[in-house]
Amino acid sequence: MASLSHSSVVLRALAVILATLSAALAHHKDPYKRGDLATPSQVHLSLYNGTDTRSVTISWVTQGVVKKPQVEFGSATNLLQTFDATTMEFDNRERKFYTHSVTLTDLANDSVYFYGVGNDTSLSEMITINTPNLHNSTTYAVYGDLGFDDAHSFPQIKKDFDEGKFQMVLHVGDIAYDLGGHSSDRGDEFMGMIEHIAKRIPYQVAVGNHEADDDRTYLNYRKRFKLSDLSENMYYSFNSGLVHFLVVASEFYYDATLSNGLEDQYKFVKQDLALANLNRDARPWIVVLSHRNFYCSNTPDPGFDTCSEEFSPMRDGINNGSKFNYGLENLFHKFGVDFFFAGHKHSYERFYPAFQGKMYGPKSDTYLDPEAVVMVTQGNAGCRNGLGHFLKPNTGWLPFSAVRISEYGYSQFTVLNSTTATVKMISEKGRILDSFTVVKSNPRPRRRG
Ligand SMILES: [Fe+2]
Repeated sequence: MASLSHSSVVLRALAVILATLSAALAHHKDPYKRGDLATPSQVHLSLYNGTDTRSVTISWVTQGVVKKPQVEFGSATNLLQTFDATTMEFDNRERKFYTHSVTLTDLANDSVYFYGVGNDTSLSEMITINTPNLHNSTTYAVYGDLGFDDAHSFPQIKKDFDEGKFQMVLHVGDIAYDLGGHSSDRGDEFMGMIEHIAKRIPYQVAVGNHEADDDRTYLNYRKRFKLSDLSENMYYSFNSGLVHFLVVASEFYYDATLSNGLEDQYKFVKQDLALANLNRDARPWIVVLSHRNFYCSNTPDPGFDTCSEEFSPMRDGINNGSKFNYGLENLFHKFGVDFFFAGHKHSYERFYPAFQGKMYGPKSDTYLDPEAVVMVTQGNAGCRNGLGHFLKPNTGWLPFSAVRISEYGYSQFTVLNSTTATVKMISEKGRILDSFTVVKSNPRPRRRG
């Protein structure tokens, strides 16, 4: 027995050596030299243009023009195929860089793949990815407002990723503080910081107010990520296992330079939610991601935010003199959105199901058949602007505010199956500070509106 197991070890070692040699011989590509303008950096994955977890988009940045950007991808290092990339140019007259992307489709469930990024003469190191098992539960890391400096929660997020605790990241805006800071160097540094995670699992983002850039073009956000060509990443949707995710740009309601796009986004949201609601048999959960929440019981921030005020344009609509247009709360309610995750406020706040300022259901950590959307704010991942604070209980906090935590952390959102999902808020030290469960006795939401 001893000699048999020894032989199998030797055979396995030989197979690895042969696969490595054949990969090297098959490609004849040189490794990159550091500092070359064509050197790939900031490699990250995303789900693009409504694709699902059977596909993946690989993106990376070069500081100079690359003639033939390519990805080599396959189920073994000696079975790599070459795919040509498309390129987006970032040019704000101060800095240029180039984001290259390739979308791979029809990936197998629960499988290992290998890829490298580069061009027709040089290739990066090989990166290994595992596609999720869509028959198992899926956990998403959810957070907003994570900067490059003072990124308090990031060591814990990285540790949890290394231990396989989540399979996708949902970063709900305010990225890097700021992507465009220091002539966009801050964006490069942040994308380098998250690369360890983002080159192996999808890193989905929403736009926040810190993505505006000094010239209010949102150009770093538009050109660094590959999420939707239609809106240049401002709003889009994608599917993951049992969940349909819709990403909404709250900034359309708060930045006058974006107001021309408000109507198009509203039409997109309405149509997307209507279709998703008809597809509950395949994807029973509908989850919205946006930078700002409808409600908050944080200390008011007049002129900058409206979540603690009686009227909020994103929630209630824009007043055109005779009526309110484009309000989102009615749509979320009508089409039975299950969860709404946001950031912006640098704290964690969990709400009982609520609609138009009214709580639906009992105060319990298990939400059984919620009759309104379940909202969670987690803009507490850590950034140079510190933590947010709450109103004192006797100064009119919201009656449906369930849990309020002014500490650094992030959330793990787990979809266990078609009827049960949980949220756990994890502190920067790895402690669970809040946990709750949503149970639907039927994949379809209870009729609303
Ligand atoms: Fe923000």
